[in-house]
Amino acid sequence: MRKVRRGAVRPAVTAVLLGGLVTALLAAPVPAGAAQWQARAEAAFQKLPLLPTPPMGWNSWNKFHCNITEDLIRQTADAMVTSGMKAAGYEYVNIDDCWMAPQRDENGDLQSDPQRFPGGIKVLADYVHERGLKLGIYSSAGTKTCQGRPASLGYEDQDAQRFAEWGVDLLKYDNCNNQGVPAIERYTKMAEALAATGRPIVYSICEWGANRPGEWAAELSHYWRTTGDISDNWGSVVSILDQQVGLEKYSGPSAWNDPDMLEVGNGGMSTTEYRSHMSLWSLLNAPLIAGNDLRNMNATTLAMLTNPDVIEVNQDWAGVQGHKIADEGDLEVWAKPLSDGGAAVVLFNRGPSGGQVSTTAAKLGLPSELAYTVRDVWSGETTETTGDVRASIPSHGSRMFVIRQDRPAHHEPATFLDVRTDTTGYVDAGATFTASVDFTNDGVTPAQRVEVGLDVPDGWSARAQDPTRFDSVPRGRTVTASFTVTVPTDASNRAYPFTASASYRTVAGDQRQTPGYGGVTLAETPRGERWISDLHPLTANVGYGRVGIDKSVDGKPIKIAGVTYAKGIATHAPAEVTYYLGANCSRFTAEVGINDETKGRGSVTFGVLGDGQKQLAATEVILGNQPAQHLDVDVSGVQVLTLTTGTGPDNNNYDHSDWGAAKVYCAD
Ligand code: GLA
Repeated sequence: MRKVRRGAVRPAVTAVLLGGLVTALLAAPVPAGAAQWQARAEAAFQKLPLLPTPPMGWNSWNKFHCNITEDLIRQTADAMVTSGMKAAGYEYVNIDDCWMAPQRDENGDLQSDPQRFPGGIKVLADYVHERGLKLGIYSSAGTKTCQGRPASLGYEDQDAQRFAEWGVDLLKYDNCNNQGVPAIERYTKMAEALAATGRPIVYSICEWGANRPGEWAAELSHYWRTTGDISDNWGSVVSILDQQVGLEKYSGPSAWNDPDMLEVGNGGMSTTEYRSHMSLWSLLNAPLIAGNDLRNMNATTLAMLTNPDVIEVNQDWAGVQGHKIADEGDLEVWAKPLSDGGAAVVLFNRGPSGGQVSTTAAKLGLPSELAYTVRDVWSGETTETTGDVRASIPSHGSRMFVIRQDRPAHHEPATFLDVRTDTTGYVDAGATFTASVDFTNDGVTPAQRVEVGLDVPDGWSARAQDPTRFDSVPRGRTVTASFTVTVPTDASNRAYPFTASASYRTVAGDQRQTPGYGGVTLAETPRGERWISDLHPLTANVGYGRVGIDKSVDGKPIKIAGVTYAKGIATHAPAEVTYYLGANCSRFTAEVGINDETKGRGSVTFGVLGDGQKQLAATEVILGNQPAQHLDVDVSGVQVLTLTTGTGPDNNNYDHSDWGAAKVYCAD
């Protein structure tokens, strides 16, 4: 179940209730009534430049939630040293919510939980400092923390003093139970209180991006959250990523956008997905705050967190945040200029099947040159390109390169595979089609003894139509190998990736491989009247949990404003679920709303799209308890139907979105 924020004040939703006020709220540069605090923040307060590069460390929340003890913190500090994390640059050991006792002491001071932290925070800070690390702590700019412990609203000076006396080096300051006091006021008070202690304390603002923090938090703090909480799934990572677009202008040394802590190593995503998460967060100059169990991590996780090239991109002293420079549906290019005149780039495929992503040195801002070096930060290989920077990338994967003007010592060509089929991307069981693999030499020197192969799923066959060996492929040239692919008649409906590869020799005699990724989706065309919940989605990305099949997000009946629907799906916002219609259906109907299990909370928009981008229906913001809205949508000619839910004007808390009685009407 989604974490409950008891009593959190949600100004954006209030504004929706007040109708037109929402526009005013979104347009205001700072929250209403806060001008004096903005002035105070700018004039009276001189922030210490404590983080010239993004912070690196660990935080207890993502993995341990409230299940934390002083032993865990000590063991984590030890593990940070012994694992090599410290040597790689990780420094802060941050205790999140639940370290406090349920009550303040007789002097009104915060005290640590007597069971979980019997030795107190000072002793822990000493322990962490003895290992050359720093200690971070947590409170909320509210009357209680998100987990109901005492928090710092109205106690800013007193609490900041205690933190400083204990030797705390960083404060993460949350937003729960804030009593509706404007954010800038609450966060300025704590900034001033921390400054008044005289101890350099990094200040991390966590108001979930709810009050346009980029516009004021840089004055006060060293980094600030830009979104609601991350969770350990792919939908969460791409949803947070999308919310970073345009924020790069607010970020710089000692003032970083924080897309939330890392989930790398927590088990909910594949290695490919974690690598994309790590690559993109590094490029965004995100604080690299590991959120896994450092005491028990496998070699893959450790290598991912400590890759020196990736960290070097994140920690580049120029501090220019990476941003999206190209977006073609599921294929994106994110780039970051580097202090030495080079650029880091992440070629990103967020889609359900393999795809080709390309850019050029010129688009990355590099001056015109005969050739550039391309360093693949994950494989460690360096190649040479005359300008194209491109790769074939598997579903949810990415390639991260650093491009520089200098010429490499060994002139290995950058090479590229493009995998294509002569289908629409959807095929029937038993079908035969052609898959073609183009091998291109983007470098200067030739690729020799090139051999192209195609691997198809078990039970499928691929027969080469022409020769697949090529003696030499010179610079700028492409060769093509084509294969006849046959799908078995008993194959089931889903996406089937296939992998191509080219092996070749460089002029220095080294053997190299280039991978390529493609695929087709086997999809059954629905016939007659079909409940959506009886169809298999082609893809499903939901903001939390899984798609509910005839059940809510919490596994309860689909129920909107007292009405129960036996059939339907539930998609926690932000979500995007796609179904194959094969241009065989004419109508889609559903009763949409928020499930009664949120007890009136949550705010969601529902949308229906045809073949990717074409909007067929969209609702206004729907709040909890509101009666279901009836959708009746013409889907004639649509190959792929997309059902989306958006979070409304706030974050995604309680956005338990139901599509009651969702149905398509198709030809027989
Ligand atoms: C909020 C924050 C999280 C975490 C929890 C602790 O949800 O955004 O990062 O600190 O509170 O309760």
